[in-house]
Amino acid sequence: MRCEFPKDFLWGAATAAYQIEGGFDRDGKGESIWDCFVRKPGRIKNSDTGDVACDHYRLWEDDLNLLQELGANAYRFSVSWPRIFPEGYGRPNQKGIDFYRRLVEGLRQRGITPMLTLYHWDLPQALQEKGGWLNRDVVYYFRDYAGLMFEVLKKEVPLWVTHNEPFVASFFGYGTGENAPGVRGLKTIFQSAHHFLLSHGEAVKVFREVMGEEKAQIGLVNFLWRHEPASQKTRDIKAAQRAEGFISRWYLQPIITGSYPSDIWDWIKKRLATPKMEPEDLATIAQPIDFLGVNYYSRNLYKANPFNPITGFTQVKKGPLPQTEMGWEVYPEGLFQLLVELDEKYHIPLYITENGAAYNDQLVDGRIIDTKRADYLKQHILQAHQAIQAGVDLRGYFYWSLLDNFEWAHGFSKRFGLFYVDYRTQRRYWKESARAYQRILQANTLMTGEG
Ligand code: FCB
Repeated sequence: MRCEFPKDFLWGAATAAYQIEGGFDRDGKGESIWDCFVRKPGRIKNSDTGDVACDHYRLWEDDLNLLQELGANAYRFSVSWPRIFPEGYGRPNQKGIDFYRRLVEGLRQRGITPMLTLYHWDLPQALQEKGGWLNRDVVYYFRDYAGLMFEVLKKEVPLWVTHNEPFVASFFGYGTGENAPGVRGLKTIFQSAHHFLLSHGEAVKVFREVMGEEKAQIGLVNFLWRHEPASQKTRDIKAAQRAEGFISRWYLQPIITGSYPSDIWDWIKKRLATPKMEPEDLATIAQPIDFLGVNYYSRNLYKANPFNPITGFTQVKKGPLPQTEMGWEVYPEGLFQLLVELDEKYHIPLYITENGAAYNDQLVDGRIIDTKRADYLKQHILQAHQAIQAGVDLRGYFYWSLLDNFEWAHGFSKRFGLFYVDYRTQRRYWKESARAYQRILQANTLMTGEG
């Protein structure tokens, strides 16, 4: 079967600054919360750090060449805020700005459309020392940083993203403490989440002022897995709906409709605390956006648990489907269901801004035969195609990730890349999955049944 994609469909790969750049103290860059967090004992597997990572700060031209050879017409990357404002605000660092100018220029020369994410989790440490995302002032520092980037790249960058996965940033950064800045708490999840969402809205407001007649578009990228009941028992179905509320709707509904989901609001009001906010905040959060970015990898299964006083549910550890190296079930059908559901509920253009899999790749004689990843890729692209056939306004697909990279608390132990990175030599190798992806991109068509 030939699954042809729309003519102007964007195909690319995604990365994030801290995960690939390295150059952690180069050219006046300030410290980020990740630079600090990775130095705390026991937080990161094998005590890995992003100090060097894929050395992309130095090798970026080679990496853009790989994108071009792949046949990508788009690239999603993030800007490191502390490269731009080493102290979080105040005087910008020209050398940091120049790096992203060159990067964007390099993309355009290669015919690759940039999608720029302003925040992929690397807050300037100087702002963490003021309380980080629990301090409302950080909302306005973010707005000013965003405003500067809009001014600098308004003619060159057509697609902008405010935040990457505010759920993960608040839940793991200010809840479980597994991600930087490592704050542990319960109320802190919702307070930081509110500030993430508010800063998104403030940035969108500035975007409209700065862009004027420019055609650039702005959106937000969310963590959007499927959340399903472990059985068909009513209480498990309710548990999964609540999980979906906590993880997806809480970060989506306010952005699009200007209200927090009332079921979750009432639930946390009784058991925890609702976030502190000002009367006009929800209106700010609900600034109209141009698209929604969907990060889809897998699903979680839930069952009711009356002994968990906070959520009332437990996540089932192991589902029945085949799993990736992350222990995530491979569930391509979930992508179709998700896209159709988002389209019906929110009527907004969508991009798949992340989708990918970690496998235990072996470099043998210069080759990596990662059949499972190639299958994962094709199965998900097929579901994306079916969603388009069903009428969903899906405009692009970005594989996570271009390169193997620093996978947060897992360090370098998990490989998601289309290109294998030998971290000792910084050499990049094509994986078989990259060849498979290249064939799809060159033809703008997925051939199913293809080996
Ligand atoms: C997403 C993150 C991305 C990467 C992938 C595997 O949640 O946005 O940085 O870690 O997961």
